[in-house]
Amino acid sequence: MRILAIESSCDETAVAILDGDRTLRADVLHSQVDLHRVWGGVVPELAARSHLERIDGLVRTALADAGMALTDIDGLAVTRGPGLLGALLVGMGYAQALAMALGRPWVGVNHLHGHLISPDLLTPMTMPALVLLVTGGHTALYRLDDLETIRLLRRTADDAVGEAFDKLAKLLGLPYPGGPPIERAARRGNPARIALPRPLPKDPRALSLSGLKTAARRAFDAEVAARRTVADDFVADLAAAFQDAVADVLAGVLAEGLKRNPDVAAAHVVGGVAANAVIRARLEATATDFGIPLGAPPLRLCTDNAAMIARAGRLRLVRGETDPWDLQPRNRWEPGPWA
Ligand code: KG4
Ligand code: ZN
Repeated sequence: MRILAIESSCDETAVAILDGDRTLRADVLHSQVDLHRVWGGVVPELAARSHLERIDGLVRTALADAGMALTDIDGLAVTRGPGLLGALLVGMGYAQALAMALGRPWVGVNHLHGHLISPDLLTPMTMPALVLLVTGGHTALYRLDDLETIRLLRRTADDAVGEAFDKLAKLLGLPYPGGPPIERAARRGNPARIALPRPLPKDPRALSLSGLKTAARRAFDAEVAARRTVADDFVADLAAAFQDAVADVLAGVLAEGLKRNPDVAAAHVVGGVAANAVIRARLEATATDFGIPLGAPPLRLCTDNAAMIARAGRLRLVRGETDPWDLQPRNRWEPGPWA
């Protein structure tokens, strides 16, 4: 079965064509970061308009890359949520129109489900697995017993990790998105110079990053008050201290999860923040402590892409399922019930 998938939930317009479980015939995307950078974050209306401008060209490029015609497509998968409603509507409307014109089935996919099973695009995931999802909008730990049996173990009550990186970057005068420039600055910094908390609530479902974010802002304000300026070495030290604290918190989340789920055979970290080498390394060390491997998909599968949407959509399309024409996009949508 050849599936054409569309992702447009936030600031990336992406199209992929997946043949079977893991043969990617095409995987293309247009990133809107340059469009949103001047605003310091994603502007929903601009995002929706940009998706509309790009989507048709990307579908044509994907078909050309795959050497296929539209009539070679057996089914469509499209992100239904969570995400920006205007942005989601562009992808859903386009996918529905194609499905209707071609007479093919189509399914709306949970974007987070896509992230969670993205490692399966490379090799079949060993189950049961714990998957730590860290993106700009979500930070949560899940248990997967198979590709569709998903339980939520722990979730942040406030900021997502990526969001916290983006906010700290803004404060430090670094560009959006904040993760990569903070990781670069942190390489020159001394994480021990500024003491930051490592909040990990006793409640196994709870997680909060706002305290850490506030502590970082206080350290910044104190520096400004004391010196009236922010030197490069302070930026590097605060970036390093913050990254170090986040790495410890996430390692703590994974360790707690593994302690409570001793039957788990593998752990994975997915989402844009998984690009961070320091965070990856600390999670790897934690998994090693528990005698299991840590999988982290390559960068292009960690950040938003349509390949993961195709993989998740395929689970339903192969069973002959299709969604109704009046299916609505969802701003919020948790992929699994609490454990
Ligand atoms: O998964 P993603 O591409 O998009 C969604 O939010 O769905 O994640 C983007 C987030 C941004 O907040 C960005 O700052 C963060 O991932 N990020 C990083 C790094 N690269 C991207 N955070 C920390 N270190 C990085 N190297
Ligand atoms: Zn995402």
